[in-house]
Amino acid sequence: MSCQDSFRRSVHYLRISVTDRCNERCLYCFPRDFAGWSEKEDLLSYEEILATVAVSVELGFTDFRITGGEPLVRPGVPDLVRGIVRTPGVRSVRLSTNATRLAGLAAPLREAGLAGINISLDALDPKRYYEITGGHLGPVLEGIEAVRALGFPRIKLNTVLLRHRNEDQIGALLDFAAQRDLILRFIELMPVTSREVLRPENFLSAAEVRRNLEREDRLEPVEQPLGFGPARYFRMEKRRVTVGFIGALSDLHFCEQCNKMRLTADGRLRPCLGNQMEVDLRPYLRPTIDRESLREAFLDTLRKKPLEHSFRDYYEPERTMTALGG
Ligand code: GTP
Ligand code: 5AD
Ligand code: SF4
Repeated sequence: MSCQDSFRRSVHYLRISVTDRCNERCLYCFPRDFAGWSEKEDLLSYEEILATVAVSVELGFTDFRITGGEPLVRPGVPDLVRGIVRTPGVRSVRLSTNATRLAGLAAPLREAGLAGINISLDALDPKRYYEITGGHLGPVLEGIEAVRALGFPRIKLNTVLLRHRNEDQIGALLDFAAQRDLILRFIELMPVTSREVLRPENFLSAAEVRRNLEREDRLEPVEQPLGFGPARYFRMEKRRVTVGFIGALSDLHFCEQCNKMRLTADGRLRPCLGNQMEVDLRPYLRPTIDRESLREAFLDTLRKKPLEHSFRDYYEPERTMTALGG
């Protein structure tokens, strides 16, 4: 077996974007000149997504994450979750959400078999939260309480690091996570929407935050895997909280364990977030689903998966983060 073959065999995690729309406007996710979405939407139907999931399972995929834009702005997500959970060979289905609509959907999602939830939370001060996301913190906190009350395991909070904007929120976020036994992850800003956002005055590296935390506490590495993504986890001894770092730019080993591909809301398979290569699957899904050709196209894309991202090479994104699902 070649090195590429063994790399390919380890890819088992598919992130499925169900919409590129969002009800928030995070600074790092939307182009500054964003003027609203066009009327025309051409999303994969849930039937088409389920057919793609079934084919991916044949190729070794076992773990699925629903993303957006904001996935919960699309109606019927619990039905999609149920459909994926029931697909033979599927091990887990999880969700990444901004939680603005989570309070009302937490119970149906749990009932549908959702195995885990990651929630964006960039600040705990409502004013800061609004400045970063353009949204309101209240419903997000209600969403977090709703999933806690339902006993979802291993709920994670995602904080995108922004120098001068949420640096001062880190202590409060750590306390919030510790008090509720949630995992808090710090995510380095990535040039997924435009390179423009990645300016020195915005960028705060995960490595710097980690060094600062190490000055006040002992960070014990957590060996046990806490998810399928690229985060590295540590237990903070005094604060009694588990923190994760997602340092796509500062961590030079970031891509080594990469195990995933992405399906965009408009039906393109993307082997790497930080590489523009995409393959359109719609010709094999429309007008009817051609399972055999779909499988071939999927496998071919998997074979071409890059070994690492190009974020450090003057990478120019061609789509917004919302369209890629993070
Ligand atoms: P678990 O580890 O299973 O909890 O999930 P996850 O961390 O993969 O999911 P989540 O949607 O919460 O992603 C958190 C952040 O990590 C987002 O900013 C993603 O864009 C980023 N991320 C996840 N996977 C990758 C990856 O393969 N490459 C890059 N560059 N970023 C990633
Ligand atoms: N850089 C880093 N993380 C980002 N996210 C969205 N855009 C970016 C970006 N440019 C995060 C969201 C969410 C996760 C799925 O991706 O905050 O938590
Ligand atoms: Fe994988 Fe690409 Fe992410 Fe790197 S940037 S971890 S290669 S998807």
